Amino acid sequence: MTSLPSPIARVHFERNRCTRSDRDAFSGHRSQVTELIVNTASPSHRRLCLLGVGNGNDVDLEILASHFDEICLVDLDTAALQQCVDGLSATAASRTTLRAGVDLSCILSQLDLLHAEPSVPQQTMDALVSMARDLPSQIDLGQWDVVVSTCLLSQLVDSVFIAVGAGHPRSADLVVAIRDGHLAQLAALAGDCGKILLITDFVSSDTLPELRHVSADQLQSLVHQAVANRNFFTGLNPAVLLHRLQKDSVLVKPYPAWRWNLGPRCFAVCALETVSGLTLRDKK
Ligand SMILES: C[S@@+](CC[C@H](N)C(=O)[O-])C[C@H]1O[C@@H](n2cnc3c(N)ncnc32)[C@H](O)[C@@H]1O
Repeated sequence: MTSLPSPIARVHFERNRCTRSDRDAFSGHRSQVTELIVNTASPSHRRLCLLGVGNGNDVDLEILASHFDEICLVDLDTAALQQCVDGLSATAASRTTLRAGVDLSCILSQLDLLHAEPSVPQQTMDALVSMARDLPSQIDLGQWDVVVSTCLLSQLVDSVFIAVGAGHPRSADLVVAIRDGHLAQLAALAGDCGKILLITDFVSSDTLPELRHVSADQLQSLVHQAVANRNFFTGLNPAVLLHRLQKDSVLVKPYPAWRWNLGPRCFAVCALETVSGLTLRDKK
């Protein structure tokens, strides 16, 4: 008997289901993400790990398969990952492996329990905060030349708000633990000479309506101003993400933000790339 997915997982599955047929609308965002991944890799980089790839609307796997020998796609959502590989050419399919049903937050089932019963003892919450720094056992650590997180971090963080809402006294702790756990996870997955590309949406037209209409040459100043005004998703201030990745003197290159139109909402997306050998060593 197959068990029902967790209530929080079901929210993510439904979001993927709703955007499954939106591939054309993702085209500008997909070109941006695919080009960044290709440019991040050097010719000796052969193994790519893509986290949170979902429907695959934001990556062109055919192009990536012409640059990498192995591409590992990781997501919670098995159906979404399956549709990513349906229709791939034989070459691209032979280079692609799936890690489906992987919880990259490592605390989804505990968040489900919190959703049902938000008031738990302090000790239970402390244990949960510490578990968010665990590493998923289903993916090889230290084996990947390039590790990419594609618009996943905002969804990991959102699981906290789906579970307990922003008003819960420990929601901020959980968000920080999930964020920092994710950054440590990226470092642990990358090999010693591997690179990290963290791509995340950080503010939307819900709180920054001008994002939809501002001209391309005003986009950077608009989003800088928004960040200066503390208008960004909780835990996802790009400057803080850069600082956290830069820990232990890893050099991090920030890319200019771009727009990602997703139905009625528009998101500003940023990308951070580690450009020196990894020294972020708070791996587990
Ligand atoms: C906004 S989507 C990214 C867009 C996606 N690349 C696409 O083209 O559809 C975020 C992805 O994160 C996945 N996700 C959310 N929570 C997760 C978790 N705890 N572990 C693994 N994946 C998760 C969702 O299933 C979804 O596919």
